[in-house]
Amino acid sequence: MIEINNLTKSYKKDKKVIDNINLEIRNGEIFGFLGPNGAGKTTTIKMITGILEIDSGDILIDGRSIIREPTIAKKQFGLVPDNPDIFLNLKGIEYLNFLADIYGISKEKRIERIIKFAKEFEIENALNDKIQSYSHGMRQKLVIIGVLLHNPQNWILDEPMTGLDPKSSFYLKKLMKEYAKNGKTVFFSTHILEVAEKLCDRVGIIDDGKILFVGTYEDMKKEFKRNSSLEELFMEITKK
Ligand SMILES: Nc1ncnc2c1ncn2[C@@H]1O[C@H](COP(=O)(O)OP(=O)(O)OP(=O)(O)O)[C@@H](O)[C@H]1O
Ligand SMILES: [Mg+2]
Repeated sequence: MIEINNLTKSYKKDKKVIDNINLEIRNGEIFGFLGPNGAGKTTTIKMITGILEIDSGDILIDGRSIIREPTIAKKQFGLVPDNPDIFLNLKGIEYLNFLADIYGISKEKRIERIIKFAKEFEIENALNDKIQSYSHGMRQKLVIIGVLLHNPQNWILDEPMTGLDPKSSFYLKKLMKEYAKNGKTVFFSTHILEVAEKLCDRVGIIDDGKILFVGTYEDMKKEFKRNSSLEELFMEITKK
Protein backbone atom coordinates (compact mmCIF):
# COMPACT_ATOMS: atom_id res chain seq x y z
CA MET A 1 0.00 0.00 0.00
CA ILE A 2 1.22 3.46 -0.90
CA GLU A 3 -0.14 6.61 0.74
CA ILE A 4 0.71 10.03 -0.65
CA ASN A 5 -0.24 12.86 1.70
CA ASN A 6 -0.25 16.57 0.77
CA LEU A 7 2.74 16.15 -1.50
CA THR A 8 4.30 19.26 -3.00
CA LYS A 9 7.42 19.80 -5.10
CA SER A 10 9.06 22.66 -6.98
CA TYR A 11 12.21 22.43 -9.07
CA LYS A 12 12.30 26.21 -9.40
CA LYS A 13 11.09 28.80 -6.91
CA ASP A 14 7.39 29.69 -7.21
CA LYS A 15 6.60 26.93 -9.77
CA LYS A 16 4.98 23.92 -8.12
CA VAL A 17 5.27 20.90 -10.40
CA ILE A 18 3.46 18.79 -7.78
CA ASP A 19 0.78 20.79 -6.02
CA ASN A 20 -0.55 19.28 -2.80
CA ILE A 21 -1.56 15.85 -4.12
CA ASN A 22 -3.16 13.03 -2.15
CA LEU A 23 -3.41 9.44 -3.38
CA GLU A 24 -3.91 6.04 -1.81
CA ILE A 25 -2.92 2.95 -3.75
CA ARG A 26 -4.39 -0.09 -2.05
CA ASN A 27 -3.19 -3.63 -1.59
CA GLY A 28 -4.43 -5.93 -4.33
CA GLU A 29 -5.03 -3.22 -6.91
CA ILE A 30 -3.49 -2.16 -10.19
CA PHE A 31 -3.48 1.63 -10.24
CA GLY A 32 -2.78 3.53 -13.47
CA PHE A 33 -1.24 6.98 -13.20
CA LEU A 34 -2.22 8.97 -16.28
CA GLY A 35 -1.49 12.48 -17.45
CA PRO A 36 -0.06 14.53 -20.33
CA ASN A 37 3.69 14.99 -20.88
CA GLY A 38 5.16 17.10 -18.10
CA ALA A 39 2.14 16.56 -15.80
CA GLY A 40 4.27 15.32 -12.89
CA LYS A 41 4.08 11.51 -13.07
CA THR A 42 7.82 10.80 -13.04
CA THR A 43 8.42 13.49 -10.41
CA THR A 44 5.83 11.81 -8.16
CA ILE A 45 7.34 8.36 -8.73
CA LYS A 46 10.83 9.71 -7.96
CA MET A 47 9.55 11.08 -4.64
CA ILE A 48 7.73 7.83 -3.75
CA THR A 49 10.95 5.94 -4.30
CA GLY A 50 13.24 8.37 -2.48
CA ILE A 51 15.19 9.44 -5.58
CA LEU A 52 13.98 13.02 -5.29
CA GLU A 53 13.64 15.07 -2.13
CA ILE A 54 10.12 16.01 -1.00
CA ASP A 55 9.41 19.72 -0.36
CA SER A 56 6.39 19.12 1.87
CA GLY A 57 3.99 16.30 2.67
CA ASP A 58 4.83 12.65 3.21
CA ILE A 59 4.71 9.26 1.50
CA LEU A 60 4.13 6.01 3.35
CA ILE A 61 4.99 2.63 1.87
CA ASP A 62 3.20 -0.04 3.87
CA GLY A 63 3.05 2.47 6.70
CA ARG A 64 6.75 3.41 6.57
CA SER A 65 7.69 6.97 5.71
CA ILE A 66 10.12 7.42 2.84
CA ILE A 67 11.35 10.55 4.66
CA ARG A 68 11.72 9.25 8.21
CA GLU A 69 12.43 5.54 7.58
CA PRO A 70 13.94 5.47 4.08
CA THR A 71 15.91 2.25 4.53
CA ILE A 72 12.89 0.22 5.64
CA ALA A 73 10.54 1.91 3.16
CA LYS A 74 12.92 1.20 0.26
CA LYS A 75 12.94 -2.55 0.99
CA GLN A 76 9.18 -2.65 0.44
CA PHE A 77 9.01 -1.70 -3.21
CA GLY A 78 10.60 -2.47 -6.54
CA LEU A 79 10.98 0.26 -9.16
CA VAL A 80 11.09 0.01 -12.93
CA PRO A 81 12.25 3.54 -13.87
CA ASP A 82 11.38 5.31 -17.11
CA ASN A 83 14.96 4.98 -18.34
CA PRO A 84 16.52 1.48 -18.26
CA ASP A 85 20.03 2.64 -19.23
CA ILE A 86 21.83 1.51 -16.09
CA PHE A 87 25.03 -0.41 -15.27
CA LEU A 88 25.89 -0.60 -18.95
CA ASN A 89 29.30 -2.11 -18.27
CA LEU A 90 27.88 -5.12 -16.46
CA LYS A 91 26.70 -8.28 -18.15
CA GLY A 92 22.97 -8.97 -17.74
CA ILE A 93 23.61 -11.87 -15.40
CA GLU A 94 26.05 -9.78 -13.30
CA TYR A 95 23.39 -7.10 -12.86
CA LEU A 96 20.79 -9.66 -11.77
CA ASN A 97 23.21 -11.32 -9.32
CA PHE A 98 24.16 -7.90 -7.95
CA LEU A 99 20.49 -7.14 -7.22
CA ALA A 100 19.89 -10.60 -5.78
CA ASP A 101 22.87 -10.03 -3.43
CA ILE A 102 21.52 -6.66 -2.29
CA TYR A 103 18.14 -8.17 -1.47
CA GLY A 104 19.62 -11.34 0.06
CA ILE A 105 17.96 -13.79 -2.35
CA SER A 106 19.17 -17.37 -1.90
CA LYS A 107 21.09 -19.17 -4.71
CA GLU A 108 18.22 -21.56 -5.43
CA LYS A 109 15.54 -18.85 -5.53
CA ARG A 110 17.54 -16.52 -7.76
CA ILE A 111 18.42 -19.26 -10.24
CA GLU A 112 14.80 -20.42 -10.38
CA ARG A 113 13.47 -16.88 -10.90
CA ILE A 114 16.15 -15.78 -13.39
CA ILE A 115 15.57 -18.88 -15.53
CA LYS A 116 11.77 -18.44 -15.42
CA PHE A 117 11.62 -14.71 -16.19
CA ALA A 118 14.50 -14.63 -18.71
CA LYS A 119 12.84 -17.44 -20.62
CA GLU A 120 9.40 -15.78 -20.63
CA PHE A 121 10.92 -12.46 -21.73
CA GLU A 122 13.16 -14.28 -24.23
CA ILE A 123 16.45 -12.75 -23.14
CA GLU A 124 18.11 -15.85 -21.69
CA ASN A 125 20.63 -15.96 -24.55
CA ALA A 126 21.70 -12.35 -23.90
CA LEU A 127 22.43 -12.65 -20.18
CA ASN A 128 26.15 -13.22 -20.77
CA ASP A 129 26.44 -10.09 -22.92
CA LYS A 130 27.10 -6.59 -21.61
CA ILE A 131 24.01 -4.43 -21.08
CA GLN A 132 25.69 -1.86 -23.37
CA SER A 133 24.94 -4.18 -26.29
CA TYR A 134 21.22 -4.54 -25.41
CA SER A 135 18.40 -2.83 -27.29
CA HIS A 136 16.08 -0.51 -25.36
CA GLY A 137 13.46 -3.24 -25.00
CA MET A 138 16.03 -5.78 -23.78
CA ARG A 139 17.27 -3.33 -21.14
CA GLN A 140 13.67 -2.73 -20.09
CA LYS A 141 13.10 -6.46 -19.69
CA LEU A 142 16.30 -6.88 -17.65
CA VAL A 143 15.25 -4.10 -15.25
CA ILE A 144 11.82 -5.72 -14.87
CA ILE A 145 13.40 -9.10 -14.10
CA GLY A 146 15.70 -7.43 -11.56
CA VAL A 147 12.70 -6.07 -9.68
CA LEU A 148 10.82 -9.37 -9.80
CA LEU A 149 13.78 -11.21 -8.22
CA HIS A 150 12.89 -9.91 -4.78
CA ASN A 151 9.13 -10.16 -5.22
CA PRO A 152 8.39 -6.77 -3.60
CA GLN A 153 5.08 -5.99 -1.86
CA ASN A 154 4.76 -2.79 -3.93
CA TRP A 155 5.62 -2.68 -7.61
CA ILE A 156 6.12 0.79 -9.11
CA LEU A 157 6.64 1.17 -12.85
CA ASP A 158 7.17 4.34 -14.91
CA GLU A 159 5.92 3.77 -18.46
CA PRO A 160 6.90 0.08 -18.41
CA MET A 161 5.44 -0.89 -21.80
CA THR A 162 7.66 1.53 -23.75
CA GLY A 163 9.80 -0.43 -26.18
CA LEU A 164 8.43 -3.84 -25.27
CA ASP A 165 7.40 -6.15 -28.10
CA PRO A 166 3.76 -7.39 -28.06
CA LYS A 167 4.61 -10.74 -26.48
CA SER A 168 6.64 -9.18 -23.66
CA SER A 169 4.04 -6.51 -23.07
CA PHE A 170 1.39 -9.24 -22.82
CA TYR A 171 3.54 -11.19 -20.35
CA LEU A 172 4.22 -8.05 -18.26
CA LYS A 173 0.49 -7.34 -18.01
CA LYS A 174 -0.07 -10.95 -16.94
CA LEU A 175 2.57 -10.56 -14.21
CA MET A 176 0.99 -7.30 -13.02
CA LYS A 177 -2.39 -9.05 -12.74
CA GLU A 178 -0.84 -11.95 -10.81
CA TYR A 179 0.86 -9.51 -8.46
CA ALA A 180 -2.36 -7.70 -7.63
CA LYS A 181 -4.23 -10.99 -7.28
CA ASN A 182 -1.73 -11.98 -4.60
CA GLY A 183 -2.62 -8.87 -2.58
CA LYS A 184 0.31 -6.77 -3.76
CA THR A 185 0.18 -3.19 -4.97
CA VAL A 186 0.91 -2.27 -8.59
CA PHE A 187 1.34 1.43 -9.41
CA PHE A 188 2.30 2.37 -12.95
CA SER A 189 2.29 5.37 -15.24
CA THR A 190 1.31 5.01 -18.86
CA HIS A 191 0.22 6.88 -21.96
CA ILE A 192 -1.40 3.78 -23.41
CA LEU A 193 -5.00 4.36 -22.44
CA GLU A 194 -6.29 1.12 -23.97
CA VAL A 195 -4.01 -0.74 -21.57
CA ALA A 196 -5.15 1.37 -18.62
CA GLU A 197 -8.80 0.84 -19.51
CA LYS A 198 -8.46 -2.93 -19.55
CA LEU A 199 -5.83 -3.49 -16.87
CA CYS A 200 -6.43 -1.00 -14.05
CA ASP A 201 -8.73 -1.36 -11.08
CA ARG A 202 -8.50 2.42 -10.61
CA VAL A 203 -6.79 5.29 -12.37
CA GLY A 204 -5.57 8.71 -11.28
CA ILE A 205 -5.28 11.59 -13.73
CA ILE A 206 -2.72 14.30 -13.04
CA ASP A 207 -2.19 17.52 -14.97
CA ASP A 208 -0.03 20.52 -14.08
CA GLY A 209 0.85 18.84 -10.79
CA LYS A 210 -2.78 18.52 -9.64
CA ILE A 211 -4.91 15.39 -9.39
CA LEU A 212 -8.00 15.86 -11.56
CA PHE A 213 -9.65 12.48 -11.10
CA VAL A 214 -9.24 9.29 -9.04
CA GLY A 215 -11.48 6.27 -9.36
CA THR A 216 -12.56 3.39 -11.55
CA TYR A 217 -13.28 3.75 -15.25
CA GLU A 218 -16.95 3.08 -14.35
CA ASP A 219 -16.88 5.98 -11.82
CA MET A 220 -15.42 8.19 -14.52
CA LYS A 221 -18.19 7.35 -17.00
CA LYS A 222 -20.82 8.09 -14.32
CA GLU A 223 -19.19 11.34 -13.25
CA PHE A 224 -18.99 12.66 -16.79
CA LYS A 225 -22.33 11.12 -17.78
CA ARG A 226 -20.85 9.61 -20.89
CA ASN A 227 -20.36 6.06 -22.03
CA SER A 228 -17.09 6.95 -23.79
CA SER A 229 -13.71 5.30 -24.05
CA LEU A 230 -11.10 6.15 -21.43
CA GLU A 231 -9.23 7.99 -24.18
CA GLU A 232 -12.19 10.30 -24.88
CA LEU A 233 -12.80 10.93 -21.18
CA PHE A 234 -9.10 11.64 -20.67
CA MET A 235 -9.25 14.30 -23.41
CA GLU A 236 -12.24 15.87 -21.71
CA ILE A 237 -10.69 15.86 -18.23
CA THR A 238 -7.35 17.30 -19.33
CA LYS A 239 -8.85 19.86 -21.74
CA LYS A 240 -7.40 23.35 -21.15
N1 LIG B 1 15.20 17.88 -13.24
C1 LIG B 1 14.26 18.81 -13.51
N2 LIG B 1 14.53 20.13 -13.38
C2 LIG B 1 13.59 21.08 -13.62
N3 LIG B 1 12.33 20.79 -14.01
C3 LIG B 1 12.00 19.49 -14.15
C4 LIG B 1 12.95 18.44 -13.91
N4 LIG B 1 12.34 17.24 -14.13
C5 LIG B 1 11.08 17.54 -14.50
N5 LIG B 1 10.88 18.88 -14.51
C6 LIG B 1 9.59 19.56 -14.83
O1 LIG B 1 8.60 19.06 -13.96
C7 LIG B 1 7.37 18.89 -14.65
C8 LIG B 1 6.91 17.46 -14.49
O2 LIG B 1 7.80 16.58 -15.17
P1 LIG B 1 7.68 15.00 -15.11
O3 LIG B 1 8.92 14.42 -15.69
O4 LIG B 1 7.33 14.60 -13.72
O5 LIG B 1 6.42 14.75 -16.06
P2 LIG B 1 5.77 13.38 -16.56
O6 LIG B 1 4.32 13.44 -16.19
O7 LIG B 1 6.54 12.21 -16.11
O8 LIG B 1 5.86 13.55 -18.15
P3 LIG B 1 6.10 12.44 -19.33
O9 LIG B 1 4.72 11.89 -19.63
O10 LIG B 1 6.62 13.26 -20.46
O11 LIG B 1 7.06 11.43 -18.83
C9 LIG B 1 7.61 19.34 -16.09
O12 LIG B 1 7.19 20.67 -16.19
C10 LIG B 1 9.12 19.26 -16.25
O13 LIG B 1 9.56 20.24 -17.14
MG1 LIG C 1 7.58 10.73 -17.06
